[in-house]
Amino acid sequence: MNWCRVERIGNATLYLGDSEALRHLLPAHDALLCDPPYGIAVATDIGAGDIRRAAFAGDFTRRQKGYRPIKGDDRPFDPNPWLSERPTLFWGANYFAHRLPAGRWLGWDKREGLKPNCQSDMELAWTNVPGNTVRLHRQMWSGMVRRGDFWRCGQHGSRREHPTEKPVQLMAWCIRMMRLKPGAVILDPYMGVGTAGAAAVLMDHPYVGVECETRYFNAACDRLALVQRDPAAWAGKLAA
Ligand SMILES: C[S@@+](CC[C@H](N)C(=O)[O-])C[C@H]1O[C@@H](n2cnc3c(N)ncnc32)[C@H](O)[C@@H]1O
Repeated sequence: MNWCRVERIGNATLYLGDSEALRHLLPAHDALLCDPPYGIAVATDIGAGDIRRAAFAGDFTRRQKGYRPIKGDDRPFDPNPWLSERPTLFWGANYFAHRLPAGRWLGWDKREGLKPNCQSDMELAWTNVPGNTVRLHRQMWSGMVRRGDFWRCGQHGSRREHPTEKPVQLMAWCIRMMRLKPGAVILDPYMGVGTAGAAAVLMDHPYVGVECETRYFNAACDRLALVQRDPAAWAGKLAA
């Protein structure tokens, strides 16, 4: 078994394939930053009512816009193969906290103090980077209302490319919290649409990303190419 595809895009190297099966083939890295499947079988058809209605009306062309279930999300996630002495950060770590050593917790307030809705008010990340304080990133991200959406700033109502897509500013904040050395190589074995990758390359960190779904891999390739065409302009959007 081998990688399906490898793309080198500026400072980013992107692999299409199964990071768990091919872990031993990955290049050397200095830090790990990822947002793995949490093992909660998250619903990926939220907001897809129009697509279902179109399918009922016989318009199957619109079906392709729906999201498939996230691979690996139907079973508990095991972080152990990815743990090392290197700076490491996992989003969604509250779902597999019992499998992690003692560490530090970071939070993302997705509601910015507004009333709860049907989704989580915040998300939690675990890191082995030393520190006693729990820190919080605030960025409204609820359904179609996504403050500072990096890709479509100022426009609400646009579909995201990935059902559990994170803000690029959140990943930039994580990289700052990890206090990495200049030029440290960041590995992301659950890349999605390259959110952490966009933050990494704009902060001058070489990035290695792995994604098993072709649709998300292609979107990540497009995004990493786009930001590296005019990095100065895109870097200006990194502050939430
Ligand atoms: C929670 S999502 C990450 C979303 C990402 N933070 C973003 O903003 O786009 C996890 C991703 O890992 C991918 N994935 C799951 N298991 C994988 C594996 N074994 N190898 C590579 N990718 C995998 C899924 O397809 C999914 O896109």
